[in-house]
Amino acid sequence: MNGPAQPIRTLEKRFYLAPEIYRREQQGVLARTWQFACHASQVRNIGDYFSFFVAGENLFCLRGKDGKVRAFYNVCQHRAHELVSGMGSVRSIVCPYHAWTYELDGRLRGGPNLRSVPNLEISDIRLAEVRIEDFHGFLFVNLDRNAAPMNDWFPGVRDELLEFVPHVADLEPLEWIKVFEKCNWKLSVENYSECYHCTINHKTFATGVVEPKSYDIQPQGYCLRHTTRCQNLDRMSYTVDLEANSRAGEYSSWYLWPMFSFQVYPGNVLNTYHWRPTDHCGVDVVRGWYTVRGRDSTTIRRLAVQDRETTLEEDIHLVESVQRGLASRGYRPGPLVVDPSGGLNSEHSIRVLQQWMREGIEDSAENSEGVDSVARQHSAMEDPQSVPGTHN
Ligand code: FES
Ligand SMILES: [Fe+2]
Repeated sequence: MNGPAQPIRTLEKRFYLAPEIYRREQQGVLARTWQFACHASQVRNIGDYFSFFVAGENLFCLRGKDGKVRAFYNVCQHRAHELVSGMGSVRSIVCPYHAWTYELDGRLRGGPNLRSVPNLEISDIRLAEVRIEDFHGFLFVNLDRNAAPMNDWFPGVRDELLEFVPHVADLEPLEWIKVFEKCNWKLSVENYSECYHCTINHKTFATGVVEPKSYDIQPQGYCLRHTTRCQNLDRMSYTVDLEANSRAGEYSSWYLWPMFSFQVYPGNVLNTYHWRPTDHCGVDVVRGWYTVRGRDSTTIRRLAVQDRETTLEEDIHLVESVQRGLASRGYRPGPLVVDPSGGLNSEHSIRVLQQWMREGIEDSAENSEGVDSVARQHSAMEDPQSVPGTHN
């Protein structure tokens, strides 16, 4: 007979410390999930491009003559020179090495002396393209050509976001605030995905933005949805017009596995997080703050500074300490505080997240080509709670 259920333990330390695990994640889960590229307004005009890295791959987005934004691997089809860097605007893509020239839709237009090559079909050559989706103006890419669309991964999120931020289509970035955390990316997203530490470590957030006692986090497909009410108005750290919208008095966030989150502060203030790992023990965390058409706003700039100086700063110290602690010989994986009724002081969301993390590693170990991972991802999406616990 089975004894009473044992507490679920956190992931083994190798998940955060081993370069080999990170290498497998780059080949597996990070290459098969939807990753933030840039905001559509950063490639507003025909020929505008924006380059970035996903799963160790150098990629870029580019707006074509037809107005469509495409994403490509940033590599020439001749002898592999990189094509663009940073962001900018081009009339055509000209490789710096031997000047092969590509149209804005990725087709090769020509190159010096190419006509002299017998039987070379120029029209057969085009840049390697990557799946891209526009999610309310936020552009995401997926290196897996067979990936399910974002609405399948994150059910309901597109509509909910529109309900909380009806003007989302008019928003553009006002500020990007980037910090570096010397820790594995999974520690940073775990820290983001529980509020068990909030009242102890985030005084400003817990007293001046949200009301801790109504805080909860629940899975929604491969999204972790945070919800709570706003703090009493007289305690808010900025002015909120509750009449502006039926959701103006609420806080909500949608963490989209594995490295992006939409957050809406009370007053329908959209801001985002995205994570870009630098290696197995470093991650850039980028906070985006938005206003209608990117117009300046003292309130939003003040909020961005307040967040940088409080929540963001406080979290850096927490996750870096955990990274150091995990390397200690004196640590073995501790129990998660999973309260069946959920709420602020529960780590049920970490249980779900760590299961996705574990699946991500197992998928990449078993299946480096990603052929049947989609089926497994779908079955887990149907009921993320049904997956077995993370005993070690
Ligand atoms: S590598 Fe690009 S033109 Fe030769
Ligand atoms: Fe935090």
